[in-house]
Amino acid sequence: MTVLDGRASGLRRARVERLQDLREPPVVGGYYLVPVITYPLRGMMADWPVLGPMHEDAEHIGFPWLHYHIDGRFLNARQYRHMANQAWPKGDHDRALNGLPIMSPRGMPDTLPRRPHLKRRQCRRTIQRWAVAQETKRWGLQEAYGGEVHALRLPDGRALCPHRKVDLSQFPADEQGLVTCPLHGLRVCVQSKARADV
Ligand code: FES
Repeated sequence: MTVLDGRASGLRRARVERLQDLREPPVVGGYYLVPVITYPLRGMMADWPVLGPMHEDAEHIGFPWLHYHIDGRFLNARQYRHMANQAWPKGDHDRALNGLPIMSPRGMPDTLPRRPHLKRRQCRRTIQRWAVAQETKRWGLQEAYGGEVHALRLPDGRALCPHRKVDLSQFPADEQGLVTCPLHGLRVCVQSKARADV
């Protein structure tokens, strides 16, 4: 969240927390330093907030192209509208955010930025729910990880999804201590003991 840091030259300056330092969901309305890539996504050049690292999903999902996932919590109103208009059926924001990765058009040279950079963005909405449950089932992802899936614990307290290492500690767990990963829908226990082998 934004922290007021005292006065400098008569002006109050705000210190903005890095999203990666959170161990709880960001507060709607708060400002954070968020990973973004500058990219022309489906006709709109913008700084797109991304969730998790750039990756491919050839294994399990059959999607061998490098891509990022959008972090819908930090899309501004214009970006949110743009993505909703790409979805089918029109206006299905959740499906658009889950199902439309940021990637170079197929058959074109890969021009994706290799690393995101940090930008100050406002959290506009709560979690990005995984909207395509039938696809997780079709991929057999949960079974591939042995059914009961535990987060990878880092020494700094982050809980990572074992599939593509997205940080799940910024997403609320259900009453069973499970977080549904917003990238591909794996159900991951985030309350297990710390693991030393990560
Ligand atoms: S990163 Fe793929 S299910 Fe979590």
